[in-house]
Amino acid sequence: MYLRECQGVDLRRLPAAAKLGSGPVTAEFYDQLFAAIQARGQSAPEWIASKQTLGRDIAARILQPWKERHGRAPRILATGAGEAWAECTWLEAGFAVTIHDGTSAYFEAIQARQPQASFLQSDMASFTPEQTFDVISMLANDFVLDRAGFVDFCRRMAAALSPGGMIICYCPSVLSLRRILIEALRRATGYYRRNQWIFWGWWRSPGEFQRVSRAAGLQLTNAFKPSNGGWAAQSLTLPSWKENNGIFLFEKAI
Ligand SMILES: C[S@@+](CC[C@H](N)C(=O)[O-])C[C@H]1O[C@@H](n2cnc3c(N)ncnc32)[C@H](O)[C@@H]1O
Repeated sequence: MYLRECQGVDLRRLPAAAKLGSGPVTAEFYDQLFAAIQARGQSAPEWIASKQTLGRDIAARILQPWKERHGRAPRILATGAGEAWAECTWLEAGFAVTIHDGTSAYFEAIQARQPQASFLQSDMASFTPEQTFDVISMLANDFVLDRAGFVDFCRRMAAALSPGGMIICYCPSVLSLRRILIEALRRATGYYRRNQWIFWGWWRSPGEFQRVSRAAGLQLTNAFKPSNGGWAAQSLTLPSWKENNGIFLFEKAI
């Protein structure tokens, strides 16, 4: 997945862009992006609102049912949470949430909004939680990990799940058939190289979530296409024609 612009910021102009290697953008890059967004004010209101809708939908469809099934609220670890607009809706709803990210740049602003949040800074490449959680979320961050890194991360998170726990992965870069065609064409014609796009992370087929979960000792138990006004079930293995968003639930294999 390649980007050139994020919330009106020209990514190619950030100083960290000159230092990027073959992997996706680094914590330093996210620091600079957040500073550039803050220098202009806040993130775009419609972007914040769409994140909050996603967070509230996850609370209503996944967290609340978990609470009813288990007779207590889940303790949540929100990995790679960034500005955490979705994740903060869970704090607003009264859930205990530990906010994690590779950079601490976001933490002060989040704490000002949600004083009850707790924080953990660590690189996903090595992050190993010291306590267990009932729910571990990965919202819009699986793409920073290649396949081996994603398996390894899921294995470490699986070890930090309490019995009955689950991982919620919201992926905005699920490969659709249409996207496969576009990417093949763009790569064949050197489009990304010629136009200096920034490598943001990996696209992932629905089948890859299935394979990664098995390799990590987890079970992919559900997949949804999130959308305003209702989530539709999604095939666990087959790409759709053009849907690039997916929510995947991993539970510990019994
Ligand atoms: C696209 S943002 C998603 C933020 C938030 N979850 C959301 O849905 O808006 C990806 C986040 O992952 C974090 N991140 C990227 N690479 C990371 C790494 N190697 N370790 C920890 N966090 C990382 C970034 O700092 C950023 O906050």
